[in-house]
Amino acid sequence: MNTTPLPQLPPLSMDQHINYATHTSWGISDPVRFHQLMEEARSLVTGGYYLGDNLFTWLRNNSAFEDAAFTQSLNNNALNASDQAIAWRRYILACAACHAVHLDGDFVECGVYLGTGVKTIIDYFGQSEFKPTFWGYDTFDYHPTAGHGFSEQREGLYEKVLERFASYPQVKMVKGFLPDAFELGCPERVAYLHIDLNNAPGEIATLDHLWDKLVPGAIVVLDDYEWAGIYREQKRQEDLWFQARGYRVFPLPTGQGIVLKR
Ligand SMILES: C[S@@+](CC[C@H](N)C(=O)[O-])C[C@H]1O[C@@H](n2cnc3c(N)ncnc32)[C@H](O)[C@@H]1O
Repeated sequence: MNTTPLPQLPPLSMDQHINYATHTSWGISDPVRFHQLMEEARSLVTGGYYLGDNLFTWLRNNSAFEDAAFTQSLNNNALNASDQAIAWRRYILACAACHAVHLDGDFVECGVYLGTGVKTIIDYFGQSEFKPTFWGYDTFDYHPTAGHGFSEQREGLYEKVLERFASYPQVKMVKGFLPDAFELGCPERVAYLHIDLNNAPGEIATLDHLWDKLVPGAIVVLDDYEWAGIYREQKRQEDLWFQARGYRVFPLPTGQGIVLKR
């Protein structure tokens, strides 16, 4: 069993309203007009707002930003504007990790890209304090779907990501196309599974391969489940996959979906 202590939450001040606003959201036809309107909207609501990553909420605790260890890890690891905008999504992962560190199983992220999701979680717990083995899978240097490559996907990315984790002996980065890459190394027992491949065939193949390895109580976070548009096919296939096994995905306003393995 892993012995990873949870990060301490600071005492709450009862009259505090934390506001958070970024300029990064997707699917906006006129960003200038949108930001003008959102600036006005922010001025009309009670504090405690969150704006970014296609969310506008208010009168929320914004718990992510009350958790100092998380905020520090988020800020230390953010490499671009998107990493800041998706703070709430990252905090869902951090809380999922707080659940999973008590289980007897490894951590897995399928679709790692630069490794920011993995590193934000481990640093939240205090790097060496984080005991589970954390597996990361990606093709790294290229995107398997033509035309979908991310800006840093070129030869040498894998080595760059390995360098980022040079002082993280608990991390195993596996380079290759999923599901085939599981043949290169795969945990026997999984407590935490974050799937972020942005395509339905890869995600379904990953579920097929790993589901039986998930220990009871294990948590699955599907990064794209509740996003519409081009991501809707993922929801369609994942709903069918989980329905066949007697599960329903919890859809989150962040765009993610969660499943707890019984
Ligand atoms: C959205 S990015 C991952 C972002 C990362 N989870 C984070 O939090 O920063 C999606 C990644 O999935 C990878 N990917 C997609 N399909 C894959 C497959 N079948 N096998 C391996 N990697 C895949 C892409 O190469 C890309 O780097």
